[in-house]
Amino acid sequence: MAQTFKSRIDAATRELRNHNQEHVLQFVEQLDRSQREILLDDLEQLDLNLLDRLIEEHIHNPQPFELPKRIDPPQVYPAKPASDLESKYRQALDRGENLIAEHKVAAFTVAGGQGTRLNFDGPKGNVPATPVRNKTLFRLFAETVLAVQRKYNCVLPWYIMTSRANHEDTVRTFEQNDHFGLNPGDVFFFRQGMMPCVDTEGKLMLASPESLAMNPDGHGGSLRALFRSGAIEDMARRGVEYISYFQIDNPLVYVVDPLFIGLHALDNADMSSKAVVKAEPLEKVGNFALVDNKVTVIEYSDLPDDLAYKKRSNGRLMLEYGSIAIHVISRSFVEKLNQHGFSLPWHRAFKKVPYIDKTAHLVSPENPNAYKFESFVFDALRLADHSIILEIERADQFAPIKNASGVDSLQSSQQLQIERAARWMERAGIKVPRREDGTVDALIEISPLFALDDHELYDKRRQLREMKAGDIVYLG
Ligand code: UD1
Repeated sequence: MAQTFKSRIDAATRELRNHNQEHVLQFVEQLDRSQREILLDDLEQLDLNLLDRLIEEHIHNPQPFELPKRIDPPQVYPAKPASDLESKYRQALDRGENLIAEHKVAAFTVAGGQGTRLNFDGPKGNVPATPVRNKTLFRLFAETVLAVQRKYNCVLPWYIMTSRANHEDTVRTFEQNDHFGLNPGDVFFFRQGMMPCVDTEGKLMLASPESLAMNPDGHGGSLRALFRSGAIEDMARRGVEYISYFQIDNPLVYVVDPLFIGLHALDNADMSSKAVVKAEPLEKVGNFALVDNKVTVIEYSDLPDDLAYKKRSNGRLMLEYGSIAIHVISRSFVEKLNQHGFSLPWHRAFKKVPYIDKTAHLVSPENPNAYKFESFVFDALRLADHSIILEIERADQFAPIKNASGVDSLQSSQQLQIERAARWMERAGIKVPRREDGTVDALIEISPLFALDDHELYDKRRQLREMKAGDIVYLG
């Protein structure tokens, strides 16, 4: 056993030396056995050849992002179908509802992020998000899953991708809350992969004497983690064919959307996306484009202003649709990618990364000091043989919580949640008090267990009461 341990250290040392990274072993003599195990675990998971390539391409010899030569606007299913599409939408809705009822759909949340940007300590899923009851994102989505199961009399398995930083906290949250009423056997947690950070010289960094400074490998890593964790196998065993993918940060998301799933299935797509018309040409969202006949997302940071403002002959923006990070992914597509050794492009970000210096003192930098590498799930669209895009009304399905204040903050998200609830109430025949500027003069929250959408609320209209200014209304 001792020999094995020593030979593991020797092998790691040789490997690191070959790649000029042996400095990360500088404290190894001072580590006890269990600390060495921890360090070895990190080191043995490194792909140093890949890291060499990334350091060369992104740090030593970075090339400017090259836009594809020809970029066209993609085809998009409109939010409101013209008459020629009405019957297709009806058929898709039916198909999607049947697929959900037949247990062929799973929900999938990428929840590797922390609440750091919101000054919240812990998994982002634990951020209190709703305007009246302050339900956390995890509770809100769990209730939605429960409501879908009741509506369609089915099991909707829920897969949740965590990261190293929040896995234990996330699982504990569910355990302590009795899985929010869900069957624990139908909630599947798995960790995403990690990538090492490197300094401006391309050197690995230590977060402590026994651990490397690492970051989650981006939501693109979910396509590999789904496979490696056994989640895909679990889906196959259950007969799940379609994965409804969404980010943890958007309380207005439809956890499963029958129309979207149905269109994806009818068109035999591999991976599909929802889109919104961008609020302005430079909005900070991914931009849908057609490149080499493939749906492609160009991230806002890569989009030059002239292209962002470029118009088509009909006066509309060339790239008018933004990605809101909601996808349907076929299970078979994830299997195919993993069985054929796929790779997604790596994106580099310059960030503040705490590290220990040569004297083992922890340094918390005030300015960015290190590169981290991530892959993005939307880059997999280019690997799909077929991909559709469905436009949705932003106000109906997109109110992300990303920043501590201002745009995409908790405050703006809650306002949008209230506005949507108010519109649903108005469609159900309730007069909602509004201020002079048109904003809702009340706090309203509709639990998914009361109504999953405006149609369900309409069906319950006799249970609704009149409202007056300043009311706090919770429908649960
Ligand atoms: C993202 C998209 C952007 C899109 C916007 C819509 C990227 C690079 N851009 O921007 O195109 O318009 O959302 O809201 O993603 N996550 C993980 N693991 C990771 C990284 C992220 O689980 O390693 C999860 C986070 O928990 C979060 C989500 O992915 O829920 C979004 O990640 P974030 O880095 O915040 O992307 P945005 O800048 O918001």
